[in-house]
Amino acid sequence: MQANRLLAALLATSVAHAAPIEFDDDKIFVVSQKPALASPYKPQAKSATLLANVTDPDLSRDSCGSAKMGNRTFWTCRDTSIRIPDTDQYGFLFANSVGWTDYREDGAPAIQTSGPVGAGSDGTNSVLLMKGPRPTLPTFYPLGSDMCPKSGICADGTTRWTGWPDSPPMISDTAQDGTVTAYTWVSNNHISTTTLELLTPQPSTTLYKMTYAPETDPDVLPAVTTVDGAFWGEHEIGYGTYGNVVRGEYAYLYGLLRPGGVALARVPVDSIEDKSKYEYYMSGSWTKIKPAINDTAAAVPNAGTTGQGTFYYSQRAQSYVWIGQASPSIWADFYVTTAPSAEGPWTAPYLLYSGPNGDGDLPSYSLQAHPHMLREYDDGIYLTWTQYFKPSTYTAYVTPLVYISFV
Ligand SMILES: *[C@@H]1O[C@H](CO)[C@@H](O)[C@H](O)[C@H]1NC(C)=O
Ligand SMILES: *[C@@H]1O[C@H](CO)[C@@H](O)[C@H](O)[C@H]1NC(C)=O
Ligand SMILES: *[C@@H]1O[C@H](CO)[C@@H](O)[C@H](O)[C@H]1NC(C)=O
Repeated sequence: MQANRLLAALLATSVAHAAPIEFDDDKIFVVSQKPALASPYKPQAKSATLLANVTDPDLSRDSCGSAKMGNRTFWTCRDTSIRIPDTDQYGFLFANSVGWTDYREDGAPAIQTSGPVGAGSDGTNSVLLMKGPRPTLPTFYPLGSDMCPKSGICADGTTRWTGWPDSPPMISDTAQDGTVTAYTWVSNNHISTTTLELLTPQPSTTLYKMTYAPETDPDVLPAVTTVDGAFWGEHEIGYGTYGNVVRGEYAYLYGLLRPGGVALARVPVDSIEDKSKYEYYMSGSWTKIKPAINDTAAAVPNAGTTGQGTFYYSQRAQSYVWIGQASPSIWADFYVTTAPSAEGPWTAPYLLYSGPNGDGDLPSYSLQAHPHMLREYDDGIYLTWTQYFKPSTYTAYVTPLVYISFV
């Protein structure tokens, strides 16, 4: 009895101190419990290293995000145009395009100290070289039959369907043989080519599916199919467009409310295409009833600023993380917020890092984090964004890659 009580006391102490205990000359190892976090995870930048530009110098690429497929990084980008050989001019616009970058043997991104001259590469600066086929029509994420296919630019030239991915592919499964299944939700934006105004302010959302069996040839791309051109209808929350995290059996999908706020849905990760399996987070609990796009009860406070960014789960910190741009902002100021669960509570976003900007009308945007580039022992994060310059300064989009190490 006495001994049991002593053991209980020792166990309690050992859980608190996470050390083996001794009892009656025997060492007893206590299976450690996950320590309750006394305060929220709040990473701060210890140092920032501007590593390289991510580029295929033959292409000017806007707004890239990335995911890991096989032993490469798969990049999905928005507007892409091809360099006119031996000039700094770029012609013919593709609404989206994709490419691959490699890892080094030690698992870090394969940055090279120089590369061919072109977009983001003057021949002397470091580059993370994108490989893959030249973009072709139809675009990688094909436009719907009602979206002025195949380019998205309508015949009279006054309007355009953009086919712009806001978030990189969400990996839902990696099979035994390495075959990757991924999904992306893309807003069906229809814009005026002159004013850039959205002609459908609350657009529907296309769900795309990708499958890819890893192989050495970088000219082989994932096979992509349109699951549903209006997976979410017009005036519905575009769950998945604002970001996503897969953890455990669930995919957590974030979407923007109108006029403002971030909403959250979840679905078993093996049922992404089955709308009946979705649940929606409303006033602190999960429901089967999809909230209206203007329902403030669907807002998850501080789950991102509503500016563009990336959600991920940090195994190392045992925390959900969002890193992205303030809203509204046109600067490479990366804000961070964290939460113990996808539903929150999320901390108030705070500034993590400010990077160099372009000098154009939109100096910096499409701020992205690349958590899959981290090795187990890397305590930090890789970040990229799009730098946009006045045409007289620089004619291509530039995508700097920076590594932030955490305190
Ligand atoms: C990115 O490219 C531009 C244009 O070539 C160059 O001025 C800049 O130094 C590059 N940045 C990095 C981080 O390599
Ligand atoms: C990457 O994967 C391919 C095919 O799975 C393999 O042939 C290649 O050697 C791998 N490369 C590295 C650097 O591991
Ligand atoms: C939300 O939108 C619906 C449909 O447009 C409208 O009837 C309703 O009044 C709106 N609710 C709020 C709170 O704005």
